[in-house]
Amino acid sequence: MNDGRHQEPGSRPTGAANQANAGGPNPATVVGTDRLVGTPLSVADRPWLDQLHRDPEVMAYFGGIRVGEAQERWVTNHLRMFEEQGLGAWLFRERNADGIVDPKQLPVGRAALRPMSAEVGVDIMEIGYTVARAGWGRGLATEMAQAMVTLGFEHYGLTELGAIVHVDNAASQRVLAKVGFAAEPTHNVELSEGLHLYFTRVREDQ
Ligand SMILES: CC(C)(COP(=O)(O)OP(=O)(O)OC[C@H]1O[C@@H](n2cnc3c(N)ncnc32)[C@H](O)[C@@H]1OP(=O)(O)O)[C@@H](O)C(=O)NCCC(=O)NCCS
Repeated sequence: MNDGRHQEPGSRPTGAANQANAGGPNPATVVGTDRLVGTPLSVADRPWLDQLHRDPEVMAYFGGIRVGEAQERWVTNHLRMFEEQGLGAWLFRERNADGIVDPKQLPVGRAALRPMSAEVGVDIMEIGYTVARAGWGRGLATEMAQAMVTLGFEHYGLTELGAIVHVDNAASQRVLAKVGFAAEPTHNVELSEGLHLYFTRVREDQ
């Protein structure tokens, strides 16, 4: 996925965005999974996010590391999404053996539910996910992605979700397949970072 870099996310109220707002979801929704607890992005998370976005391996398919103004813009846009639309990016921390999360513990990853970049040309909410390098290969992205799907369908009442992934990002494409997304090549899109494949998942009752 393009990680919300192209369109300034949250700046363009889309039909899908309005749909997500219908029903007035609690903007501070906490997302729980078996191993993780996700909390809406807050300014206190900035040091961890800065570190995540400075890792070239993590950012390889997002056009390289994100620092300075670009990082500022990403954080500001995602914070504003929560204010304006009640969704955006969640930071996930691991539960301890008692199932509890120490809020002082660093996150292991972040996941997003947000409007799709305008460049893709599809008015839909997209999911996104990124795991800090040390956490790769443990199924954490799949767990966060599933949490975003459940949130989108069950909490926000969305009927379809999208995602875009760099053509070479095989691990991420596998994550999407594991949470029920299918490729829809008619919406593949060439972005500055390269060709991105478009995936979609429709809610089961549709
Ligand atoms: C892509 C990313 C999110 C995967 O996170 P993760 O927690 O390791 O993912 P999971 O463990 O849940 O699942 C990864 C799956 O991809 C598979 N996989 C890993 N590397 C792969 C590769 N090079 N080719 C094919 N499949 C691969 C794994 O085997 C696993 O599938 P399996 O469960 O069937 O064995 C993580 O590498 C990351 O954060 N990358 C940088 C940011 C990014 O690319 N985000 C996605 C943007 S679209």
